[in-house]
Amino acid sequence: MENTNIFYHGDNMSEMPQIKITPPGEKAKKIIEMDNKYMMTATKCSPIAVHHASGALVEDVDGNTYLDFTCGASVTNLGHCPPTVVAAIKEQVEKVMHFAGTDYYYEAQSKLAKKLTEITPGEFDKKVFFVNSGAESVEAAMKCARWSTQRKRFIAFIGAFHGRTMGAISLTASKIVQRNRFMPLIPGVTHIPYAYCYRCPYKLTYPDCDLWCAKILDELYFTSFLPPDEVAALFYECVQGEGGYIVPPKGFIPELEKIMKKHGILMVDDEVQAGFGRTGKLFASEHYGVVPDIMTIAKGMGSGVPVGAIVAKAELDFGDPGAHSNTYGGNLICCASVLATIDVIESENLVENAEKLGKLAMKRLFELYDKYEIIGDVRGLGLMTATELVKDRKTKEYAVQERNAIVEEAYKRGLLLLPCGKSGIRYIPPLNIPEDQLHRGFDILEDAIKAVIN
Ligand SMILES: Cc1ncc(COP(=O)(O)O)c(C=O)c1O
Repeated sequence: MENTNIFYHGDNMSEMPQIKITPPGEKAKKIIEMDNKYMMTATKCSPIAVHHASGALVEDVDGNTYLDFTCGASVTNLGHCPPTVVAAIKEQVEKVMHFAGTDYYYEAQSKLAKKLTEITPGEFDKKVFFVNSGAESVEAAMKCARWSTQRKRFIAFIGAFHGRTMGAISLTASKIVQRNRFMPLIPGVTHIPYAYCYRCPYKLTYPDCDLWCAKILDELYFTSFLPPDEVAALFYECVQGEGGYIVPPKGFIPELEKIMKKHGILMVDDEVQAGFGRTGKLFASEHYGVVPDIMTIAKGMGSGVPVGAIVAKAELDFGDPGAHSNTYGGNLICCASVLATIDVIESENLVENAEKLGKLAMKRLFELYDKYEIIGDVRGLGLMTATELVKDRKTKEYAVQERNAIVEEAYKRGLLLLPCGKSGIRYIPPLNIPEDQLHRGFDILEDAIKAVIN
């Protein structure tokens, strides 16, 4: 009988990717066929069907091994199946799996809430509301902001991704396909351009622009059509993730904070993708010295269990029991996983490691930039790194097909990558990836680029 419980650490796996048969192999093809037949249309990236995974390595059902520079879309930041997290989940599962955390009490949930209030920025009392995903954390933040301010409107950024549920998609402005046919959305959301200096929407140049992309809010929007005292909150990402891993200039987020404070508008920092060490700080807002009123978190906090939360100033708490609630938020298994994940991040200094490895990744990416004209921009914060591909460095025409081809060529050679923005590729390996694996990943990337441009 096939052993389906080979979890997994090292024993049967090579330490480097290995493509034994051209993917997708026969077993993967069968799964893909079944998926196509029974699953609703999704944004599949590469035709890989996973069998098991450990650290930065993933083995597919046909025995090919890949390096994972995607972390399951920024989730498995400690690598796949980190042993102490797996052990914590197992221990919890054997005790009690679920006990409606919004109706009753258990220590793991309150302990985790306490921990989250301690590790997030801000020297004030905070409170936590648990959810099951990033989008749901954004929903909770929207409701919390409206509830506490009794204001109705929101501001968000063009290029932002905050999820796809009805509230969250009203803030998201990343791709047309995500919004097409779903109107009407939540009314009262105003979108403004993000600080995307590589393609400044105002055709200005930093620092001469004097951060017009932030100041325009106060100087134009708030004086002509958007009453600031009707705005509950500004939703922002400190690094625009899905939108292209866009890192704003240092002063952008602080300038926004200054303007929002002036008008009593809450700052909601969406750390769903950037949080928990990815950027070389525990939370990306720490790079900018800005303390949000509400923070949304998910993805990397739980190493793969469906969990999220908002951490808000205590005074923003929903005052009425039942004003906001759910069944699974703060589920015991999820709490066990998050507590163990935070423990690994802290005890193994993974925030510092992300900063160190991020420098290495940027060095490799800039070397590629020097060699290959197709790379128009290299950007990143910590180990949240990306390239934007262009047909021509002067015109900056998006190289979308070439980007897709590079992702495919990389996959065929044993490296998993995810796109971002219109023609970007993100590089988000685990925060503890061994350096030789990191280098191998970028070697494969270079081979993939060569295969596409030659
Ligand atoms: C910044 C940000 N917010 C929210 C979300 C939505 O998270 P989820 O897919 O878990 O709903 C994402 C997902 O990519 C994200 O990157």
